[in-house]
Amino acid sequence: MIDRPRRLRRTPALRALTREVRLHPEQFIHPVFVHERDDVSPIATMPGVSRHSIASAVEQAREALALGIPSVILFGIPDHKDDLGTQAYAEDGVIQRATRAIKAAVPEISVIADTCLCEYTSHGHCGPLCEVPGQSGGDAWTVDNDPSLELLARTAVSQARAGADVVAPSAMMDGQVGAIRAALDGAGFVHLPIMSYAVKYASAYYGPFRDAAGSTPGVGNRAGYQMDPAGGYREALREARLDAEQGADTLMVKPALAYLDVLSLLRREFDLPVVAYNVSGEYALIKAAAQLGYMDERRTVLETLTGMVRAGADAIITYHAFDAARWLKSE
Ligand code: PBG
Ligand code: ZN
Repeated sequence: MIDRPRRLRRTPALRALTREVRLHPEQFIHPVFVHERDDVSPIATMPGVSRHSIASAVEQAREALALGIPSVILFGIPDHKDDLGTQAYAEDGVIQRATRAIKAAVPEISVIADTCLCEYTSHGHCGPLCEVPGQSGGDAWTVDNDPSLELLARTAVSQARAGADVVAPSAMMDGQVGAIRAALDGAGFVHLPIMSYAVKYASAYYGPFRDAAGSTPGVGNRAGYQMDPAGGYREALREARLDAEQGADTLMVKPALAYLDVLSLLRREFDLPVVAYNVSGEYALIKAAAQLGYMDERRTVLETLTGMVRAGADAIITYHAFDAARWLKSE
């Protein structure tokens, strides 16, 4: 006798009744770039995404809420950059001001602050640089790990003081989650969760983001601190375990598409929520193909996000969030 799985696929109603994976706007985190200008400037390599003024970032938060998206993640683009990334932890830094404005106007939205220094340093690296003794040429310097921890912790505390609901450290410094947890606890923020970019690869898929944030390193690259794409499961498990031990409240895998196997591994191995970061380059690929008429944007986006949930993502940071929420509503 023939076993007939097609019976349950015959009608939309039967398919809806029996599907295992569901996509919902409540799973989305909407990224917002905020600069210190009054205009809204489109990002050429990310069609449909802009750098926002603080007033316009508030509108983004309002719109997210109206679409049923509960969170935004903020990336700051400061006017002033320096060696130590001081604007990342300035009380009146762009993220701090944007966070205050959003929480005052739209208190129901949860504001996640990306905690890193690369958008704020003149050299574009995720922390201050130091010399490596005995080495020469391109190997003679690196990001100075432990002083970076201090600055990242200050950044997180200043974001918490501004009213952020979550901090999301993305610098890939060793010990950053523990340092931030201790600083937050010391400043009275024991209840503030850390969404750790636990497993973050040195990826070509960040290209459009670095364009948007002006955070492409002036010299060198991030391969000395972000993970090797060919690193494999031992390294991924080790990074995730270290962050879990240091007090991460959620784990993230970034980028998502080329690393869905890693995402699914973390889902099985840890009892923490797992976040997928559907990064700028993944967004740009679909946008470009859609603009060229090569792919159907709506179907491609929803299928891609569904794949991330099926692989184990509890939440997805995605530049498609607004479109996807609208499409899901009209389905
Ligand atoms: C900052 C940061 C980056 C992204 C998120 N946070 C850039 C980087 O690590 O170079 C990338 C996001 C994207 O590509 O959408 N550390
Ligand atoms: Zn960074």
